[in-house]
Amino acid sequence: MSVSSVHDLVTRRREPLYRIAEICEADPLAADALCRMLPAMNRAADVPALTAALRELTPDAERIATLNTVGSLAAMRDLGMFLGSLKRHGTEPCAAVPGVLPVLGELGRRTAMVPRDTVHHYTTWNPAGRRQRMYTGDPMEGCLQDAVRMVFPDLVATLDTCEELTGLEPYDPAFAHALDRTDEHVRAMVDSIDHTVAHVSPVYFAQVLRPYFEEIDVGGCGLLGPAAAQVPLWLVDMTLWQSDRPGARYASFIDESVPYSLPSWRAFHARHAGSPSAVSKLSAAVSWEGMERLPPQLTASAVSLARVLRTLKTFRARHFTIARKAYSDEVRLYEKGSGGAPVELLRSVLDLTRDNETLVRRSTRPRTSA
Ligand code: HEM
Repeated sequence: MSVSSVHDLVTRRREPLYRIAEICEADPLAADALCRMLPAMNRAADVPALTAALRELTPDAERIATLNTVGSLAAMRDLGMFLGSLKRHGTEPCAAVPGVLPVLGELGRRTAMVPRDTVHHYTTWNPAGRRQRMYTGDPMEGCLQDAVRMVFPDLVATLDTCEELTGLEPYDPAFAHALDRTDEHVRAMVDSIDHTVAHVSPVYFAQVLRPYFEEIDVGGCGLLGPAAAQVPLWLVDMTLWQSDRPGARYASFIDESVPYSLPSWRAFHARHAGSPSAVSKLSAAVSWEGMERLPPQLTASAVSLARVLRTLKTFRARHFTIARKAYSDEVRLYEKGSGGAPVELLRSVLDLTRDNETLVRRSTRPRTSA
């Protein structure tokens, strides 16, 4: 699907969380000037200036009451830049500016999101160009933000193709069609990681940027920073293979990641966790057939399913390579990724993706009767 039609599809969704241009445009806390100064404050590790800026930006209850969802998302985005910056320099932001705590709670409630900024605030809802919010101002930070921005519309679109798939059986031609459209969208993940590998050095990520994504304490609850790991690729995995197949580590990673996602994605997870996956439906149909040659429609479904699993595998293999470099003993500052899991998780998810692809590919081979 062309980029413009994917964007049309996203804009057609009426929820305020998809009104990306409006959210990017909004500056409800008049934070543009302080955000422009943020990279310099961070370079100087100027905790007093960061604290004063967060205090100045923190809105009072009256101001919050005037904000609609779009304004609340933009406000959380801007406060978030100062939360992560303070934490990077060793200061718990809610301890330094106690007045921000109820504000985070209220903005979270108003937007049906966690009470802190997420990857969506930091990338998709972050204006590009002169008003771009950045911790470091380094072009590599901008490239990483772009890498996530470029997958958001496609992941929104997979919500529809995956929802459709959950209601279909592999004998139906629509099954392969929904898989093919899902595959087109998942390809954006491959482009995204290629863009990252080409423009972001693992050492810059690990030693300069990663510290800004540390967990902060929000009223006694540890909340992760705006990690790319929160990008909800899990919703595609759930539909294709994960919902009813083994893989306890990935299952608990998904459970921990779901709260950081948008309400419609959380609803998708609640509806479909434990439902039959596409791989299970196909395997059941193939073994029930038990004949030498599969009906052509079943073969077409298997080919389409294998293709999208292969695309996921390609993303994961390239992603694993850069992640392994950033978290190697010589380079890393932290044991765990900014999404709360170690790099070994990526190896196990890559293996599971590959195993499922192999299973599906085998099912299309002609079998000899017993
Ligand atoms: C320098 C670049 C990157 C590094 C070092 C990196 C590292 C990691 C690590 C260590 C994890 C494990 C979970 C965790 O973070 O706690 C992870 C997960 C993940 N990351 Fe990245 N990442 C990078 C860029 C990206 C980009 C650009 C995307 C896509 C937009 C992305 C998407 C994901 C996803 C979807 C997961 C969940 C696991 C999976 O689906 O395989 N990452 N990443």
